[in-house]
Amino acid sequence: MTMPKLNDPALLKAQNYINGKWVDGGAGTIEVNNPANSETIITIANGDASDATLAVEAAAVAFQSWRKKTAKERSGQLRKWFDLMVEHADDLGAIMTAEQGKPLTEAVAEVMYGAGFVEYYAEECKRSMGNTIPTIAADRRLQTYKQPVGVVGCITPWNFPNAMIARKAGPALAAGCTIVIKPATETPLSALALCELAERAGIPAGVINVVVGTNSREIGMVLTQHEAVAKFTFTGSTPVGKILMTQCATTVKKISLELGGNAPFIVFEDADLDAAVDDCIATKFRNCGQTCVCTNRIYVQDSIAEAFISRLKTAIEALQVGDGFAKDTIIGPLVSDSAVKEMKVLMDDARNHGADILVGGNSHELGHTFFEPTLLTNISPEMKLANEEIFGPIAAVQIFETEKEVIERANDTEYGLAAYFFTRDVGRVMRMSENLDYGIVCSNSGVFSTEVAPFGGWKQSGIGSEGGKEGIAEYFETKFHSMGGIES
Ligand code: SIN
Repeated sequence: MTMPKLNDPALLKAQNYINGKWVDGGAGTIEVNNPANSETIITIANGDASDATLAVEAAAVAFQSWRKKTAKERSGQLRKWFDLMVEHADDLGAIMTAEQGKPLTEAVAEVMYGAGFVEYYAEECKRSMGNTIPTIAADRRLQTYKQPVGVVGCITPWNFPNAMIARKAGPALAAGCTIVIKPATETPLSALALCELAERAGIPAGVINVVVGTNSREIGMVLTQHEAVAKFTFTGSTPVGKILMTQCATTVKKISLELGGNAPFIVFEDADLDAAVDDCIATKFRNCGQTCVCTNRIYVQDSIAEAFISRLKTAIEALQVGDGFAKDTIIGPLVSDSAVKEMKVLMDDARNHGADILVGGNSHELGHTFFEPTLLTNISPEMKLANEEIFGPIAAVQIFETEKEVIERANDTEYGLAAYFFTRDVGRVMRMSENLDYGIVCSNSGVFSTEVAPFGGWKQSGIGSEGGKEGIAEYFETKFHSMGGIES
């Protein structure tokens, strides 16, 4: 199916949202396709740099009044937005499955995950306080305030078309910032539907703006270089993050970057193997393997390797591949033909270096963008998939002997986003969590994403955090007020 009938068809938008108006784009139109069958869902406006500039100017004007609202007033409007997201979760999920491909239940779960950020920050903004500092002179008083950074430029990815917007817009708006979002060209419909709901929630014109456009470079230049943009935030690949970071340097913008990962998943011999297999499947195959925190390198201790691999094989063989709208589908399509090509490159390289293919390894018979869930063993360090972010449904198992060895191997990467390990030894749980150089470590679990805790990468996986109290801090400046002339 390309697109089911929505309960509320007005959520399917075909124009950009700038300054509270639905507008055409300066670069004509683009088609949004369903990756499961390559059919066109809708033709929409293709924005350009001048649209992005108009959006930034509108956000700068709106900032002057949005920042002056009380935290309670902003909170009320965000709460309405959250309520509308929940009310329309099924339609938002259907829009997402159509444009991104992920199974409908996973899409609806993402909508609820995204809505959680809006709900959480609607509360958190009322508790973002400054300090009173003990004075250094009798006639002085020292205080700090939290004030919104200003206009935020934002580029979001196709793998989480809803939640990565909510995770940025929720805290930004709650803090009193206004925002201009460039969603991925593959998945703009979720972003535009969120704007429709923001408008219905009464969020004023210019506070949230979306510019869709195929000329990412041009639009990205506006968001990273316009003087009126105070902060820039991006979720995507590390190479693109580095370019955007350089562009932001010219105007010294505040930045938050959520970039690539290369997550190790480590199973020790004392682990609960069934739990380890279940969570390995959950974290390796979520969103068809297309998340920055997906398991990328599986390390299993030698004494249990055979047992673990055999159970993992059975679990992978049971994964149902299909259209995201089909009942029972666990693994949808990859996002594009080029993503399938990348899987083939990884597979050719692994085959040439002698990997054993236990399950899958090829394009799926459903064609288009489908790829078989795959299990490989006999992995050697020179293979691409032992080093690169896989971003697809290929699980590659390596074997280790000691804790010290596996820590070194797990940390031997420029990335540092998420790491997983399974062991029943409480001392080892502490040692591993302290010694893995990652922003997120998960023991005895492969599922951790939540709005209440910080999500952020170390090393080349990023800068800053999203979620938790850390997430809203990214959208505040701290002002120090040194107040003199006070008579004692
Ligand atoms: C990501 O991979 O970019 C986000 C995943 C998540 O929030 O769980």
